[in-house]
Amino acid sequence: MKRRLLLVDEDTASSSMLMQQLVDSQWVEVCGQASRLDQAWQMLQTLRPDLVLLGEIRESERGVISQQFRLAFPHLSFIAVCSPQDLMWEPFFRNLGIWVVTKPVQPGQIEALAMIPQSVGITMPKEAHRPLSSQANFTPAPSFSPEQQLVAETPLESVYSAGEARPKHLITVYGPKGGVGKTFLSRELAIYFSQQKRGEKKLRVLAVDLNLDLGTFATTLNLPRTPNLFTWVQEIDAQLHEWVKRQGRDPLEIGMEEWQEYAAGVRLSPADIEKFTVTHVESGLQVLTSPRDIRHSFEIRNYHLYLILEALKQSAYDVIIIDTAPDTTDATIQALFFAEQVVMVGNPVVDSIENIQRLLKLLREAEYPEERIQVCMNRLQRKEMFTLDEIRAYFQLHPSKKIYPIPDDVEVKKSINTGAPMMLQQGRTAAKDAIETLGKALLPEESENADGPSKNKTKERPALLRWLWG
Ligand SMILES: Nc1ncnc2c1ncn2[C@@H]1O[C@H](COP(=O)(O)OP(=O)(O)O)[C@@H](O)[C@H]1O
Ligand SMILES: [Mg+2]
Repeated sequence: MKRRLLLVDEDTASSSMLMQQLVDSQWVEVCGQASRLDQAWQMLQTLRPDLVLLGEIRESERGVISQQFRLAFPHLSFIAVCSPQDLMWEPFFRNLGIWVVTKPVQPGQIEALAMIPQSVGITMPKEAHRPLSSQANFTPAPSFSPEQQLVAETPLESVYSAGEARPKHLITVYGPKGGVGKTFLSRELAIYFSQQKRGEKKLRVLAVDLNLDLGTFATTLNLPRTPNLFTWVQEIDAQLHEWVKRQGRDPLEIGMEEWQEYAAGVRLSPADIEKFTVTHVESGLQVLTSPRDIRHSFEIRNYHLYLILEALKQSAYDVIIIDTAPDTTDATIQALFFAEQVVMVGNPVVDSIENIQRLLKLLREAEYPEERIQVCMNRLQRKEMFTLDEIRAYFQLHPSKKIYPIPDDVEVKKSINTGAPMMLQQGRTAAKDAIETLGKALLPEESENADGPSKNKTKERPALLRWLWG
């Protein structure tokens, strides 16, 4: 039987050409051609393809699209079409179980891939896809089953469909080296935002510690570590188990891939997030902390994180700051892809600079939108071996792009040890001014729906310049 292929590509000419070339194929039948994401979602539902070819879609990243498609339609196989430069990103796709071919696509390649037996061989019993409308905490994911009319009324129905559900200000603080100040800056930025107002109301801010194994965000604010991310994961698992049992199945017999498929059928309720956060009373900041026990972190799977990040994105928080580990695990990569903005933190030391450069290269090759990245050099001293201009040139940053400097400050250590954030302390210091400057660039005051860093020059500049150049 021929396998049904859906072509998703803005480049309609190349889709049409491929379609023609495959007209006489014994193995593959092109069942549809979409040039936009909303069309693709529609066709996935109505045409039920077996295979999806992901070409260029500028409104979103392919990594995110394929994750979403896969979670909603676990039976699908994916082929990503890359430019030869994109091939650097291939391990990431491969990790997600997606095949990668380069342009120009040869019909023979597609046929060969279509003949490979599906990697996810288990097909879901139909009932398993039935929405769980009786469960308060789970909202069925949209657009995955013929019964989807049942969920058509849910307000989240359109979330996946066209990308029109704008995410909140999800900011990921990342840096490919330990000890550069990610956790310190995440804390200070989160506290800074929690003191800002929109109109009369203080912003609702959530900080998430995604250092799953060795996170210390809670410690830097003297907060308890219960509840935490793992508490949430346990609840997700408990609900999944109950659901599976109701289908007459034994949870112990279900393998990882199948759990992932079940997870694709649920949607966490953003309103539940607060059950798993702790509150920093002095600032009102809420914190979703990492697990207390390292072993708990081993039980957090990619699909848990995906569901959690989706829920965060749909939540009512005005700003969400994610502190990350200095690694390239799936948790961290997901945090980069879900983020609207990334603060890339480094120190003015060669190893840190080298790794940022390597990471920027990787992200560029993955066509990650660079305007989302704000580079921040932390712990600058009055005299450094490298100037910011030199560092900027090394990173090949766009001329309009600023590097945000944060001075080295002896008070930082004390403020971490005592759990007293600098941004709640009285008086002005160069470090506080610098953090505020970064905060304002991330979340411009005047615009509520700013979809990027501020184009305005910040007012603090003279003070900073004075500090930088004596
Ligand atoms: N601007 C700064 N000035 C002085 N010390 C700093 C500064 N930023 C960070 N530090 C020191 O570096 C240490 C590591 O910072 P941390 O935020 O935990 O790094 P990361 O999260 O990147 O591993 C902190 O405990 C603090 O003592
Ligand atoms: Mg840290």
